[in-house]
Amino acid sequence: MNKKLILLLIGLMLFTAAGCTAPAVEESTAPESVSEELPAEQDPAAGLSLKDLFAQHGMKVGTCLSPQMIRGEKTNDLILSQFNSVTMENSMKPEAILNQIKSKEAGELVVNFNNEAKQMLDWAKENNFSMRGHTLVWYSQTPEWLFHEDFDANKDYVDREELLARMESMIRQVFETLTEQGYIDLFYAYDVVNEAWMEDGTMRKCHWSEIIGDDYLWYAFYYADKYAPESIDLYYNDYNEQYKTDALVKFVKTLVDENGKYLIDGVGFQAHLYTTDSLTAYFKTVDALAETGLKLQLTELDVCLGRYQAPQPADDTNLAAQGAFYYDLINGLFERADAGKLKMDALTFWGFADNMSWRREYSPLLYDSKLSPKKALYGALQLEEACGK
Ligand code: GLA
Repeated sequence: MNKKLILLLIGLMLFTAAGCTAPAVEESTAPESVSEELPAEQDPAAGLSLKDLFAQHGMKVGTCLSPQMIRGEKTNDLILSQFNSVTMENSMKPEAILNQIKSKEAGELVVNFNNEAKQMLDWAKENNFSMRGHTLVWYSQTPEWLFHEDFDANKDYVDREELLARMESMIRQVFETLTEQGYIDLFYAYDVVNEAWMEDGTMRKCHWSEIIGDDYLWYAFYYADKYAPESIDLYYNDYNEQYKTDALVKFVKTLVDENGKYLIDGVGFQAHLYTTDSLTAYFKTVDALAETGLKLQLTELDVCLGRYQAPQPADDTNLAAQGAFYYDLINGLFERADAGKLKMDALTFWGFADNMSWRREYSPLLYDSKLSPKKALYGALQLEEACGK
């Protein structure tokens, strides 16, 4: 069996374990190693950095982070020079932080951060990086046993009261643990719920919704609001957001307390986009969500060459189209933020080097596999002449 097929099967097993339908986007695959070579020649981005540019518009700029990225000297240096915020790619997802053995022993849910997570938290602290927490309540990458009696997937499902208690416990322990271990001040935003809505405007069916009921979403924000410090903004995060506009606008308005005050602070647009997407349509969604008064962030930005399941080759024409797309997208966001029409304090790319991307076959990121800058980087840096427009 080839490597891709094995990874695909592992991905499939993960989805099945969460007991829910697969999303319209593919699951992450293990990254290949990157070349240690840096471009020798000068390039238009020399001396410039994303973090300086984004700061001029009141924004942090981030990447997802994996242990491999901080182990490689070149990748580590690149992150330090370009970004000032990180989101763990996998290490703070429910399957990484919920401990079945300890939960069974204790007779109650136990959250603990593994060594990989701690290594990255320490790295962020040492390097003065800010962090987005990702993620608490999700249908995927969440262990099946969480939903069963005695934390045993072979036993019956728990009832509504018990699952609500487990949800509260998980959320409380995450914030308590981060506080006790001295990491809480790194965090400025947290994805409380990930991917709960479908493109047809219905709520995704999953164990959370089936056992608790549709109000599981309200409770997730209620508990997060109860236990997270004020300094951490609470986010709802989703993909294909441009196809879910009405559902999301309606939904966030339900996330209020008994006094009508928002329990949520912001909406995360994953922004897993394609060069064939319409930016006009995308900005309609941005504007509609901005009108709710909530903050918005792009939380997992990558722009694939081509369209879903139809990647295009990384040739000059397509790379120029990608550079122009990044330019126009980020330009539109800066314009809105500068004009006070959009509250956006951060934008996160889902990686930086194409060969380390979960969608690597679409070459979606700012640097190629040798860490050489692409027109995509020039676009992100707002270098209009150089980006391919
Ligand atoms: C979704 C999730 C991310 C990640 C990507 C694939 O967008 O929110 O955490 O799993 O899929 O890397």
